Amino acid sequence: MYIPKLPFFLVLASYASLLFAAPNSTPPQYRYKDKLFGSDLAQELNDARIRGYLYGAIRGQFHTYGKTFKESVVFGKVVYNTMSMENIQTMAATKFNDFGVEPSRKLKKPNFTGDGILSTDGPAWKRSRELITPTFSRKDIADLDSLEVYFDRMLSLMPSENQTMDMQPLLKRLFLDTSTEFLFAESIHSLLPETQYKSQEFLAAFEESLMGMGTRIRAGPLAKIKLYFDKTWEKAYTKVHRYVDQHVERALAETKNDKSSISADETNPPQKYILVREMAREIRDKVSLCYELMAVFFPGRDTIPVLLANTIFLLARHPSVYKSLRETALSHTSQPVTYDLIKSLIFYKHVLFESLHLLPPVALVHRTALRDTILPTGGGADGKSLIYVAKGETVVAHLHALHRDKDIWGEDADEFNPGRWEGRRTTWEFVPFYGGARICPAQQQVMIQATYVLLRLAQEFESFKNRDEELRYIGLTRMVTESRNRVKVAFVKP
Ligand code: HEM
Repeated sequence: MYIPKLPFFLVLASYASLLFAAPNSTPPQYRYKDKLFGSDLAQELNDARIRGYLYGAIRGQFHTYGKTFKESVVFGKVVYNTMSMENIQTMAATKFNDFGVEPSRKLKKPNFTGDGILSTDGPAWKRSRELITPTFSRKDIADLDSLEVYFDRMLSLMPSENQTMDMQPLLKRLFLDTSTEFLFAESIHSLLPETQYKSQEFLAAFEESLMGMGTRIRAGPLAKIKLYFDKTWEKAYTKVHRYVDQHVERALAETKNDKSSISADETNPPQKYILVREMAREIRDKVSLCYELMAVFFPGRDTIPVLLANTIFLLARHPSVYKSLRETALSHTSQPVTYDLIKSLIFYKHVLFESLHLLPPVALVHRTALRDTILPTGGGADGKSLIYVAKGETVVAHLHALHRDKDIWGEDADEFNPGRWEGRRTTWEFVPFYGGARICPAQQQVMIQATYVLLRLAQEFESFKNRDEELRYIGLTRMVTESRNRVKVAFVKP
């Protein structure tokens, strides 16, 4: 039985509010035309996704129904959609233990992801989190020396002046190379012409594994029947596992008699920080270690490149902002780009924040209620009462809609305006990395590496021009949301 660690009167008050909340607290319900299967909502969202305006369509629904609304059909499960800051804070922090991911993310084994930080709750999640947290809190985690090597390779692949190019795939290759080095001790070297690592083959298998997993999660209990004969997924993820396994086996052998973590002191100079080795000191089981690593590789793969690609997309449409970045960059050309320099570049931080604000790469966070619980707002006719959420029901936190809420951000919520960050202190209204105990552990690393790349680009290039006739951002939503039209620009050298 669950025993909350709260004073008795708070427990009583909480259960009393649950009782009172239940009858009147239903938030506005999406008005289905197809009342049995709710196919019209799914169709509307699918059409919007295909046109590239999924989040615009969802914001339209919030406009119609209020900041929290409910989806439920006769045979369907109940889903609460919320863009309310209070509800998101409650799920992420205040009532953290009432919401989890396991019911929706844990697929039966064998499968692509297995158990790791992304798919578990409770003690299993806590253990994974404790294992990776020290990694991400280290100051040298961004490994700027290594980033510079790969950045130079990327520069050499950029076409000469004034030629139209697409930054999105190049940035993806840059971060694929750095992240595979950080995770597995060996980069996949996708920026080199032809490598022994067959990076294209690995990437294709990885994409196929992700898509297969998405299809199975969407199909729910029907997946077993619908996809029984489809073995392509298994083949693809086996290829990915084989790649990770070879690094895991090596790390386990290297750390066999070594339990201590790498630490720098006078006699022991700092060594490169490699996640597989650090984890191998704690997790000696090959399969568990493989899954734990995959769970970090997953969210790490596309997010930083998409953040940077989005930022370049926005800068290409706001040349005056790039000009300010360039001026700052030129004032720092005589010194090495260090962690401390990066931390001092406040305007760079504001530009990246503004990109994360308008175009958060992770736009939605799903949670399942692990027990009957309540959310603080959005229920009843006025949308201000508590909401009763029963065990097993889903709540979706719409980070993108929260970031565009004009009640919070003002009338220019949809405009690109890095100036809005001057003197601004945010709490739960800005959550591109989510919040609470499950906040993205890599947020520091992300900000440092993204600033580094932006600074280096601004040092190299006088300006860059937009080369896309379409000025609007058309989204392509898979695990993250990126620009479907890519990021077509032409760089100008000084
Ligand atoms: C722009 C870059 C990034 C953004 C916007 C971002 C955003 C997020 C968000 C919103 C979550 C919460 C997701 C959820 O609980 O459903 C999350 C979790 C996570 N992120 Fe990131 N992320 C970024 C980069 C990275 C990178 C580079 C890594 C690893 C190298 C990473 C590792 C993780 C992990 C392991 C979790 C799960 C944490 C947990 O459940 O305790 N992220 N991230």
